Amino acid sequence: MARDRVISSVSAEPDKPVDAALRPEHLQDMIGQRSVLEKLHIAMSAAKQRHESIEHILLDGPPGLGKTTLANVIAREMTGKTPRITSGPSLTKQADLMALLTNLEAGDVLFIDEIHRLPTIVEEFLYPAMEDFRVDFTIEGGLSGRVVNFSLNRFTLIGATTRAGLLSNAMRDRFGHRYHLEFYSADDLTKILCRSAKLLGVAYASGALEAIASRSRGTPRVANRLLKRVRDYAQVRADGVMTRAVVDEALDIQQIDSFGLDELDRAFLTALIKVYKGGPAGIEALAATMGEERDTLEDVVEPYLLQIGFVIRTRQGRQATSEAYEHMGVKPNHERTIDDVAESSLF
Ligand SMILES: Nc1ncnc2c1ncn2[C@@H]1O[C@H](COP(=O)(O)OP(=O)(O)O)[C@@H](O)[C@H]1O
Ligand SMILES: [Mg+2]
Repeated sequence: MARDRVISSVSAEPDKPVDAALRPEHLQDMIGQRSVLEKLHIAMSAAKQRHESIEHILLDGPPGLGKTTLANVIAREMTGKTPRITSGPSLTKQADLMALLTNLEAGDVLFIDEIHRLPTIVEEFLYPAMEDFRVDFTIEGGLSGRVVNFSLNRFTLIGATTRAGLLSNAMRDRFGHRYHLEFYSADDLTKILCRSAKLLGVAYASGALEAIASRSRGTPRVANRLLKRVRDYAQVRADGVMTRAVVDEALDIQQIDSFGLDELDRAFLTALIKVYKGGPAGIEALAATMGEERDTLEDVVEPYLLQIGFVIRTRQGRQATSEAYEHMGVKPNHERTIDDVAESSLF
């Protein structure tokens, strides 16, 4: 990613050990996502009672909502072990996946992150493995390749994706369980922060965690990251205690605004409002204007702006709403606002 973003979805290296320390290990430590966790609990208990491995599971949702955490929790609950972990982009050829699959023991969990980025050739190789626990492997060499059929131990595949829409139907249909993670409420984020503050041993005054939660874009990873930035600030500038005022000062320095938007979010809104007069604008055009990757905008920036109603997606492209104009302190250009579009369609 081009910028060093405080609320980037991609875990930054320096935070890694702390991230791991804050990651819940058991289902009962996980906060929020009630309906997903309940369905999972039932499915896991039933499979355990039958001494079976659980069917393949697809987890989708924006970055930082707990997909990797959940995959680890499921593996631990089902097998007492950590899952084998890989990711779509790192499996470039059949042999990469072959090596992983043939090493799986009965009941093991294989976690494929960013499964929407599996190359087609690897994806098709995965189908018989998922369905019938066998692979047809082509051994290169000689004049013609030789196909060898291997049978595999029964395993559970957990796939995670930020873009379920990019998965082929064939892939999606092979998952027995499909769960969509939603942005967290401020209440749930406050609970997550409370747990994290305890684990990190930071002192806080009442209202401080709520203030961080309200600026965390509905995302636990963001909440934990902001907590650490506020802790730094409190330590250096405010004798170690996080008060509401300390939170506000610390997050202002990080240029996180009252909605939790950072520079990148604001750059997106500025481009949409100023350069494209509020839209509709295509994502490619916006990415080019901002000098950002299209994927970053679609994965990390847009979902939350859509969630809070600052942006809507139309067939013609992205459009800023009057709330976005107001937040950015720009007067709506009257012919182009959503309210006008909505109003005109009434007549
Ligand atoms: N339900 C939850 N309860 C508590 N903490 C959570 C929860 N979901 C995520 N987290 C925290 O957020 C961090 C990011 O979650 P992660 O599983 O890496 O997200 P994803 O894989 O969806 O990008 C984790 O390290 C964990 O500390
Ligand atoms: Mg992840």
